This record gives sequence, structure tokens and C-alpha cells, in this order.
Amino acid sequence: MDDKAIVITGANGQVGRALQKIYPQALALDREQLDITDQKAINEFNWDNTKVIINAAAWTDVDGAENPSNYDLVKTVNVDATRYLATAASQHDLIFVTFSSDYVFDGSQPIHNEDEPFSPLNVYGKTKADGDRVATTTTKHYIIRTSWVIGDGRNFVNIMQDLAARGIKPSVVNDQIGRLTFTDTLARGIKHLLETGAPYGTYNLTNEGQPVSWAEIAKIVFEKSGKSPSDIQPVSTAEYFASKPGTTQRPLQSTLDLTKIEKTGFIPEDWRDKLNRLLG
Ligand SMILES: NC(=O)c1ccc[n+]([C@@H]2O[C@H](COP(=O)([O-])OP(=O)(O)OC[C@H]3O[C@@H](n4cnc5c(N)ncnc54)[C@H](OP(=O)(O)O)[C@@H]3O)[C@@H](O)[C@H]2O)c1
Repeated sequence: MDDKAIVITGANGQVGRALQKIYPQALALDREQLDITDQKAINEFNWDNTKVIINAAAWTDVDGAENPSNYDLVKTVNVDATRYLATAASQHDLIFVTFSSDYVFDGSQPIHNEDEPFSPLNVYGKTKADGDRVATTTTKHYIIRTSWVIGDGRNFVNIMQDLAARGIKPSVVNDQIGRLTFTDTLARGIKHLLETGAPYGTYNLTNEGQPVSWAEIAKIVFEKSGKSPSDIQPVSTAEYFASKPGTTQRPLQSTLDLTKIEKTGFIPEDWRDKLNRLLG
């Protein structure tokens, strides 16, 4: 497919930047160029030359979403704006690609497949689940459900690198389990689905490999930063909550079952290999 037929919204986020790299000719729109909460702007947008909308825009501040004064905006971005884009896709016969999250689940299952009913623990997760529901109202949709995203932007790996450089010995949870997702893998997976014309629907997409805790990942980052892995103080989520009252609840099990996307022929690289390469 010609890149020029692709519109990327939220193009300056971590995922949006990876999409711009894989689709250099796509029309990449940041918030200033297209605020997805502006229904009029979406309705009046000239979609004539577009075949695919990839919506990488979202409210992603999980803790900020808990603040009641932010609720209207969180819902407008993650639910209403998703509906505006899905409606535009239906009206103009476009393929709609948008992103979901492991946070639509409560993490009580050790691994999540695409058919698991939603059971979000927090406001962000609830709005992402509602966003998924509205995305399915357009037939030609790919909902890409992902977790623990690492790309060009502020993320867990560069936060740990900063802490290591500053000589801080952080407490990191050792009972939230999942796999990292590198944004270039996400972008390649989407390109694969679009190019192969895979059946529309929801696809889990993370990197492959053995699921581990955040504490294990932090230890790898510290070791690669020339620090001792023992600088990481492993704590349970319950201990972490007790030490930081008001912390937003997060699922303990974030591992997404990759069987469905792998059956389409896309095998994501092992997260550990990707991380080692990133850290050099
Ligand atoms: N990060 C993760 O670990 C993770 C995990 C699971 C799922 N996801 C999903 O993956 C997708 C991409 O996330 P990400 O990690 O790339 O997030 P990100 O780095 O926070 O990027 C989100 C982008 O959305 C833009 N945005 C927010 N409101 C907007 C609006 N009204 N109109 C247009 N743009 C708007 C932001 O623009 P500004 O820079 O101007 O604020 C930002 O560039 C999201 O759907 C997210 O829910 C992420």
C-alpha cells in the first residue's frame, strides 16, 4: 500500500514516531495538526486520498486519569475521539487501526487472549475498553492490543537508565508480570497485517519471550548501565501500594497471548534480544 494513503494521528507519541519511521510518506499529524477530540475537524477533514487511519493518539497518563478533574478529557480522547475516527472510517470506507492495552483486564488470568471479557481496574483501562468497543463499530478495523511500550519517548527503560546514572537504588515491583513491546515491532506488526490483508479484528501484539517482572527488567537495565542488579529493591505491588497511598491499581498479569497474530505469519522478536541490543 502506498504510504501516502495512510494518516497517522498522535504522530509525535512513542508509537506515532515508530509509525512515521516505517511509513515515511504517510500524512503524520500531531495534536496541533489534528486534535482528535475536534469532531468538526475530523468530519471536515479531506479523506479522499486516504485508505487507512492509524490512531496513535490517546490519553496515556494512567495516574493522571484517576484525577476526577481530568475524567472528561480522558474519556473524550480515548472514547469519543475514537468514535469520531471510527465513524469517519465507516463513512469513507477506510481501514481503522487503533491501540488497546493490557489495562483493559484486571490481570487475574496468567495470559490474556483477544476474547477475554474486559475487567479494567482503573480509569485509563476503562476508557481504553470503551475505546475498543467503539472501534469495533467500523467493520474494517484492527485493534492492536499491546503492553509495556518502549520507544522514542519517556518510558520504563530510560527512566531506569536515569535512576542508574543518578546512583538511585529504586524499589521496583516484582509481581507485575509481562513482556516489553518495542515500538518498531508494533509498527512492523501493523504493516504486516495491512500488507497481508489479515482478517479484521483485535490482535495482541507485544514482543515474544519469557514474561518477567518489572524488577527483572530493571535489573537488566542497571547491569547494562554498569550498576549492580542488586541496586534494584524488589517489592510486591501490595508493599508498593502501602508505601505510596493513592497509587493507581494495575493488573498483575499483563502477558498477552500472541497466538492469533503469529498465525498470520508475524513472529515478534524476543523482548530480551531487543532490550540487549537497545542497551548495547
Ligand atoms: N505506553 C504504553 O506502555 C502503552 C501500553 C499499552 C497500550 N498503549 C497504547 O498505545 C497507543 C500509543 O501510546 P504511546 O505509548 O505512543 O503514548 P504517548 O507516547 O503518550 O503518545 C500519545 C500521543 O497522543 C497525543 N494526543 C493526546 N491527545 C491528543 C488529541 N486530543 N489529539 C491528537 N493527539 C493527541 C499526544 O500528544 P501530545 O504529545 O501533544 O500530548 C501524544 O503524542 C495509545 O493508544 C496507548 O493507550 C500504550
